[in-house]
Amino acid sequence: MAGRIPQSFIDDLLARTDIVELIDSRVRLKKAGKNYQACCPFHNEKSPSFTVSQEKQFYHCFGCGAHGNAVGFVMEYDGLEFPDAIDELASMQGMQVPREQSGSGAAGSQPAVSKDLFELMNQIARFYESNLKSATHAVEYLKGRGLNGEVVKRFNIGYAPGDWDQVRRRFGASRDHEQLLITGGMLIPRDSGPGSYDRFRDRIMFPIRDKRGRVIGFGGRVLGDGTPKYLNSPETPIFHKGRELFGLYEVKQAHKEVRRILVVEGYMDVVALGQFDIDYAVAALGTATTSDHIHTLFRTTAEVVCCYDGDKAGREAAWRALDNALSHLQDGRELKFVFLPDGEDPDSLVRQIGKAGFELLLDQAQPFADFMFERLARDAALSGEAGKFEVANKAAELIRRVPEGFTREGLITRLSSMMRWGENQQRITELFSRHTPSKVEQAKPQRGKLTPLRRALALMVQYPGITAELPAMPELAGLRLQGIGFLLKLHQQILAQPGITTGILLEHWRGTKEGEILAQLAMHDLFEIQLEREPDILGELQDTFVGFINQFLKQRIEELQAKVAQQGLTAEETQELMMLIREVQSEKRNDIGA
Ligand code: UTP
Ligand code: MN
Repeated sequence: MAGRIPQSFIDDLLARTDIVELIDSRVRLKKAGKNYQACCPFHNEKSPSFTVSQEKQFYHCFGCGAHGNAVGFVMEYDGLEFPDAIDELASMQGMQVPREQSGSGAAGSQPAVSKDLFELMNQIARFYESNLKSATHAVEYLKGRGLNGEVVKRFNIGYAPGDWDQVRRRFGASRDHEQLLITGGMLIPRDSGPGSYDRFRDRIMFPIRDKRGRVIGFGGRVLGDGTPKYLNSPETPIFHKGRELFGLYEVKQAHKEVRRILVVEGYMDVVALGQFDIDYAVAALGTATTSDHIHTLFRTTAEVVCCYDGDKAGREAAWRALDNALSHLQDGRELKFVFLPDGEDPDSLVRQIGKAGFELLLDQAQPFADFMFERLARDAALSGEAGKFEVANKAAELIRRVPEGFTREGLITRLSSMMRWGENQQRITELFSRHTPSKVEQAKPQRGKLTPLRRALALMVQYPGITAELPAMPELAGLRLQGIGFLLKLHQQILAQPGITTGILLEHWRGTKEGEILAQLAMHDLFEIQLEREPDILGELQDTFVGFINQFLKQRIEELQAKVAQQGLTAEETQELMMLIREVQSEKRNDIGA
């Protein structure tokens, strides 16, 4: 594993990143008072409830509860894992991400896989590409398939030479690199004896890129009729077939806003469509369309059209895709299916009917609900009266997975009319009574009263600058109050980093239970009524802290008094007790006097 990214670097990175600028480059923001607003990119809405605070360096949607700092936004919006999101933010700032030497260094663990492997994969892709020019039979093959030079270049299509060790000799000369390339699936260790050999030989090579354009794997096609027709990179630490889509990076490059994405089966389909200027196609890599795929696709576009063979297998594949897509079909998103004539694939078809003809097919694609009910109606027709209820149950099970909204209501209406339930609301209620609260409902920030400790935490996380004016009170660690340790730690953090923002503060608690609580508190509406004056945050915090101190004093008095009864006090303890009592009494007088 690559070493950890030092927290100090992340803090520094977050301090340099402006969340408003970052989000505005992806979602147009409008200034609204102190904050910025937009329609939420994470759920469908007509009026903006997505709010970004420059001061807090934190975003929050009142509609769906999405929230986080700059790192969280990049993770959510760009669909990146934590380290990749850090990489992305760093590259925006022109910074290099340092890695701590993993001191624990689990023996035999992989070397810093990712970075070096990405680099090697990239170099190998360029090597394949440069080979193509001199490989006449490969060029002839591509020409024979009707591809022109422009599209071959656009997809960086290349050629892997027929020898057993071109990649190994060029890129795996050192032991480290050889091992890295074995991990990356480019070299295969020999069964007998040491060493390794090239996985891809004498094949047309299609580089597969991740969302950020890094080469993570390859598909290689034989030039003739050999088998297997396509050889693909195996699963590796950087390549997961069920998650990646061939061509997605190119689609994103071609369009600032992607109106629709077409999902096809093959590499060749994507490339041929691209040549005909249908530059919004992607291919699942020889697997079914997974839930991860659908998730990724709807992050990029609102309309997904899946293209399948018209035969039985094609319809089964479409049904599986539908099944995986249901939970992603909130309002505003569309899923459609196109079934191709027998024996054709998008590659062969677009060559016959051209761009206009093909897009006509896409415009007439079948909405997923039609496809779904066609199938349910067929099942219902096949079964007798008794079987009908089973179909209704099955349908309800599918529909329940669709997020609440118009789409889901529409499906329920269709189901009841298919079942000829008419006004029989009861049947419908029964079927859908197992109401599971949607994510939106669950995520609503709670309003209303907080315990004093929680309210203090909320003030601290929302106003770290003001909190920094309060002196440290380490003696409170002895107070028996749930959460006081956490509060003191937070206070220490704020004191140690003057100028820390809410966003950075939360970063320190990423992935912890405390972090979740803090994030909720960061969104908590602390001043529900519109205040005429700025609230007195410092005053309120001071009062709370004084309250804690008094509580602590009382706790100590009780302890000492209990000891008097049991075993008596030492001289020092007696003195302490007297002092404590005096202090509490003077506190009381102060309260009255004030
Ligand atoms: P197809 O057999 O439909 O291939 O497989 P294709 O894309 O139309 O290719 P051409 O036109 O014959 O060159 C569809 C996809 O299934 C995966 C590949 O991703 C391919 O693009 N596949 C197919 C494999 O992974 N291995 C195979 O042996 C065959
Ligand atoms: Mn084909």
